[in-house]
Amino acid sequence: MQKLLVIGSVNMDVVSNVKQFPLPGETIHSSCTKFVPGGKGANQAVAAARAGAACAMAGAVGLDPFGDTLVDSLTEKGVQTESVLRKEGTSGIALITVNEEGENNIILSAGANGKVSEEDIASLVQWEGTYAALLQNEIPWETTVAAIRSANAQGVRVFLNPAPARELPDDLFPLLDTLIVNETEAAVITGVKVSDTATAEAAAAWALAKGAASIIVTLGEQGCFFASAAGARAAVPAFRVKPVDTTAAGDTFIGAYAAACADGLAKEEALRFAAAAAAIAVTRPGAQSSIPDKAEIEAFLVSQS
Ligand code: RIB
Repeated sequence: MQKLLVIGSVNMDVVSNVKQFPLPGETIHSSCTKFVPGGKGANQAVAAARAGAACAMAGAVGLDPFGDTLVDSLTEKGVQTESVLRKEGTSGIALITVNEEGENNIILSAGANGKVSEEDIASLVQWEGTYAALLQNEIPWETTVAAIRSANAQGVRVFLNPAPARELPDDLFPLLDTLIVNETEAAVITGVKVSDTATAEAAAAWALAKGAASIIVTLGEQGCFFASAAGARAAVPAFRVKPVDTTAAGDTFIGAYAAACADGLAKEEALRFAAAAAAIAVTRPGAQSSIPDKAEIEAFLVSQS
């Protein structure tokens, strides 16, 4: 199998469970606060490795004690970490609150992620033997764009998940093999208010017209919608589970999807595999702590058939 390369963020998540989110100015009690390895980039790398892919991570952690914990967590979960740099200062930190419905809100402090430069990526990355590069929006945007251009120039597929949401320049779309967005990100990028499969299809048509080769719009409990410039369309339902914590569900979907594609699965099969991985992840607390391995995903799929 060719390898996947994730270029992105590594965070320590400080996760507090609450009954409901505090109002502005309100002080509330948390039932529990934990430190859990996270970061959209690192989560996607863990999801890909746990789903069976050979996966490397390029990014940075700080010279603080969190840095070692975060790199160790990636290594333990099967991710190659030779390209995770140590930068002066703190690691990335995400303050996460999870309510009783399993919903979250997140405040990011970039730390070392904000110091990952174009030069770092150019010196770290070897594209040979890479099936796809996975990128998000938690390291400097100029670095992400430079990595996208470099991957595309070397014939490596680019899977872009622009999260947190941001608008994309027109000239980026033709460089994308797969744009992966949730409802919020789809709306920011395309201007289409996405709430169901029909509106996801409208947003997808907009992105394909701009030149993306394919797009996946994830719709939470409503599953996901896939469309390609070659004319393929697929709406894949979500599996019904009781959510405990939705943190990293999207990251798990993306990492598992990329792993399935690298393994040669057909698109619709890869989407079902990814949906199963995400369904398992939302039944468990935390980011990387919630991500299932390939055997669990396959057993879940059998149990649902
Ligand atoms: O997508 C979930 C992730 O977003 C968390 O792990 C947190 O670190 C933030 O990056």
